[in-house]
Amino acid sequence: MNNPTHIPVLYQEVLDTFQPQPGQNYIDATLGGGGHAQALLQATAPDGRLLGLDADAAAIQRVSQRLAPWSERITLVHSNFKALEEVAQAHQFPAADGILLDLGVSSYQLDEGATGFSFMHAGPLDMRFDHTQGSDAASFVNHADEKELADVIYTYGEERYARRIARAIVRARPLHNTQELAELVARTVRPRPHRRIHPATRTFQALRIYINDELAALQTVLPQAVRLLRPGGILAVISFHSLEDRIVKQFMRQESQDCICPPRIPICQCHHRASIVELYRKGLTAQAAETDQNPRSRSARLRAARKLDIPSASFAPVSPSSSPRRRSS
Ligand SMILES: C[S@@+](CC[C@H](N)C(=O)[O-])C[C@H]1O[C@@H](n2cnc3c(N)ncnc32)[C@H](O)[C@@H]1O
Repeated sequence: MNNPTHIPVLYQEVLDTFQPQPGQNYIDATLGGGGHAQALLQATAPDGRLLGLDADAAAIQRVSQRLAPWSERITLVHSNFKALEEVAQAHQFPAADGILLDLGVSSYQLDEGATGFSFMHAGPLDMRFDHTQGSDAASFVNHADEKELADVIYTYGEERYARRIARAIVRARPLHNTQELAELVARTVRPRPHRRIHPATRTFQALRIYINDELAALQTVLPQAVRLLRPGGILAVISFHSLEDRIVKQFMRQESQDCICPPRIPICQCHHRASIVELYRKGLTAQAAETDQNPRSRSARLRAARKLDIPSASFAPVSPSSSPRRRSS
């Protein structure tokens, strides 16, 4: 594809969640094509600032062109969001009014075979967001033992044919490009009638998550993001599969509770305090109009939380001698 574009998912929902105002400061930790970032810059004119990150150097280059009209108000950094706090501090970015994480891959990465993410376009077996870091999918696919391959495909792809696919990979290797792998998986997986997705979708997702250590990066960034918000600021996360969504949900649930002691402990010992309030209990998903126009949005879920400005009133500092406090759940 010569001119791919990335349609930002849940675009209106993100804006409704943040309700960005002139002069506010936002962090977009996953710039992608810069669609959400541009909307935030427009809404925060004339002097709101935006700090944008992406692990993919090509995204930074693309977005710096797109956002050139706002260049005086933006700081774009080629970095994994695992280092979000360090990046914000290095650039002396003020406490943020909102932080967006729109996870996964952009249409650019899927449509440009060269990035090695796509089973639709021939490309090197790479799959790294950042081609300068770590090792690529080829070295894993061609050297991991069968069990390790099967475990990765099963765990991160939730692929029921993981063992069969791993066996086929080991027999066929070395594999040289994405198309070879996609065709091998398609031949191995029993075709299911009416299946909407390509048979290699889950395998590619699994390898990408593993190669980029995506779930660990997400777990690392969430507490940093809360620390970087001003009181009242909003964290919004769009995830595209259940593994990511579970991490975001559990984080938001935990951080919106005062006590996280196991239920068998009658007196709070953790002294944990709620730092956020969840905005949507189940998250927001795309409306039919959006899913019709943009199939990527079908699996998107937006969760959001507002940072508390005062420790929650229900929580008095607990000392070992204070009276037992019953957990509500
Ligand atoms: C779905 S796209 C974001 C699209 C964007 N919201 C827009 O409006 O165009 C996800 C982007 O996040 C980047 N990304 C994924 N994981 C990352 C990480 N751990 N650190 C930094 N960037 C990451 C990808 O390289 C990709 O460009």
